[in-house]
Amino acid sequence: MALLYKADPVRGEHWQRLFAEHAPDIQWRAWPDIGDPREIRYLAAWQAPDDIQTLLPNLQVLFALSAGVDQLNLDRLPATLPVVRLLDPGITQGMCEYASFAVLGLHRDMLRYRQQQAQGNWQAHRLVPAQQRRVGVMGLGLQARQILATLQAFGFALSGWARSEHRIDGVTCFAGAEQLPAFLGQCDIVVCVLPLTEQTRGILDRSLFQHLPKGAALVNMGRGGHLVEADLLQALASGQLSAAVLDVLEQEPAPPDHPFWTHPQILLTPHIAAMTQPDSAFAGLLENIRRHQRGEPMLGCVDRARSY
Ligand code: GLV
Repeated sequence: MALLYKADPVRGEHWQRLFAEHAPDIQWRAWPDIGDPREIRYLAAWQAPDDIQTLLPNLQVLFALSAGVDQLNLDRLPATLPVVRLLDPGITQGMCEYASFAVLGLHRDMLRYRQQQAQGNWQAHRLVPAQQRRVGVMGLGLQARQILATLQAFGFALSGWARSEHRIDGVTCFAGAEQLPAFLGQCDIVVCVLPLTEQTRGILDRSLFQHLPKGAALVNMGRGGHLVEADLLQALASGQLSAAVLDVLEQEPAPPDHPFWTHPQILLTPHIAAMTQPDSAFAGLLENIRRHQRGEPMLGCVDRARSY
C-alpha cells in the first residue's frame, strides 16, 4: 500500500521523513517515480496528474495538499473519488498573519507612506481609529472565521459575507447575492478568502467595486481567478478604490510586463499568505489516512456538488 506525493520536491523530503518515522507501513513514492502504479492507494498532491483513473487504477483517496482545491480541476476527476482538503493549522495561522498584515497596512496607509518615503516626503495623514474602520471578509469558512477572530483583537468594525447564513459573535453577517450590495456598502477594507468556484470566479469586478464606499481597499488572498484585473486597474485609476494587497493572480508567476508589478497602489506578493508546512500538516493527513483505513469518515472532505 503506497502513497504518491506530487507537489514541491523540497517539502517532499520533509513529508517523507515524517512518514518514515510515524507511519512506516505506508510506502512513500514521489512523483514522477511512481513505481508500480497498482500499489498506489493515496495521492497527496497540489495538482493531480492527467488521466488519473488510467494512471492510478487503485487510487482510493486524493488528498489535496492545500486549503483550496480549485487547482485540482475537480470536474476532470472521477466523480466517486473522495477529495479531501488539508486542514493544516499552519495554513490557518499563515492566513491570519497575512490578513492582519494586509488589513493593518491598509488601515495605517502603509502603501501611501512607502510612496512618500521614495519621494523623501515626510507628511502625516489623519489616523482613523480602528473602531471606525469597517473591515469585511468575503467567505466565512474555517480560514475566514479565524481571520475575523484575529482582527477582532484590534477593535475593527467587522462584517462577513457568504453564500449561506452564518452567526459569529461580534461580526455582522450577510448572506447570499441579495445581501452582497449591503455588505459591500459598509466595507472600507474588503478581504476575499472565498473558495474559487463557478459562482465566485470573477466576483471581484467593476460592479462589486462600485458597491464599495469610494476609496475602499481590497485584499485578495483567495485565488487570482476571483479578480478581474482590468477592472481593478480601472477602479484604482478612478479613485473608486485606493489600494489593493494581492497575494494571488490569475497567472502565477506574473509575467514580467504585468502592470501590477510597478503599480504604486498595489502591494503584490507571490502566493505566500500561507504555505502548507509538513510539520503542522502531517498529523491531520495521517489521521485521515487512518480514518480511511478504519472505514471512518475523513475530515475536510470536499463536497463535489459545491466544489469546495
Ligand atoms: C494555498 O493557496 C492553499 O490553498 O492552501
